[in-house]
Amino acid sequence: MSPILETKALVKRFGGLTATNDLNLSIDAGELRCLVGPNGAGKTTLFNLITGKETPTAGEIYFMGEAISRLPVHEITRKGIGRKFQVPNVYESLTVYENVAVAVHRLLPTPALFRKSVAAELGDRIAAVLGDVTLSDKREMPAAYLSHGEKQWLEIGMVLASAPRLLLLDEPTAGMSAEETKKTVRLIRDLSARRLTILLIGHDMQFIRAVAHKVTVLHKGQIVAEGDIGAIETNRLVRDIYLGKV
Ligand SMILES: Nc1ncnc2c1ncn2[C@@H]1O[C@H](COP(=O)(O)OP(=O)(O)OP(=O)(O)O)[C@@H](O)[C@H]1O
Ligand SMILES: [Mg+2]
Repeated sequence: MSPILETKALVKRFGGLTATNDLNLSIDAGELRCLVGPNGAGKTTLFNLITGKETPTAGEIYFMGEAISRLPVHEITRKGIGRKFQVPNVYESLTVYENVAVAVHRLLPTPALFRKSVAAELGDRIAAVLGDVTLSDKREMPAAYLSHGEKQWLEIGMVLASAPRLLLLDEPTAGMSAEETKKTVRLIRDLSARRLTILLIGHDMQFIRAVAHKVTVLHKGQIVAEGDIGAIETNRLVRDIYLGKV
């Protein structure tokens, strides 16, 4: 199988600090991959590079075989890479439905929105997305009234509305209750079962154990281990890294 996403000898330096160090990562289409590593390992920087928010110092990123490393953010989004940030970023005064509608509309040229067929199709798409993120019964509620977890799901919904081929999630369960975390695991597994490719940053091992098929461990901008969660958890180097010994 050919990879949907590949980085080749990817490097990102901030002054004297190397945040991404000769990174070769390969993700197959349909894969659910977890990215872990201690604080400052370079996880978010890697997402910034993939989405075009940062430009690599050296190396290349390929998405569906095409080099994307120096494209602007909106072009990369249009090619099918959707990203959910660590902190929820929803429009508080708009309803749940309107938030997803805004996300959909951002992707379309304005004239298309006035065509009835397009409007109806968009309505269906928004309803489907709200079903996916289990917010159908809150569609008319202003986002300000949602719980922290619900806001996170709404934001995932806003990303899904753009029908991405690759979904990047940075610590999607940060600040969630145990119940909300469980529901998020279900959501991610559901999306993955539909063959959406997902790259997920996490730090809570219990969460990663619940969702992950394959785990990549980053440390000082490099991949230090890769494998299933069982192998990763018993890997001595990984343990030493997490204990701060390396
Ligand atoms: N824009 C920037 N300018 C300067 N240094 C940066 C910048 N972005 C990241 N860094 C540095 O790069 C390194 C990697 O940071 P990054 O945010 O990618 O880590 P992370 O693995 O996401 O950590 P965390 O688990 O804390 O979120 C850190 O040392 C960080 O301080
Ligand atoms: Mg981070």
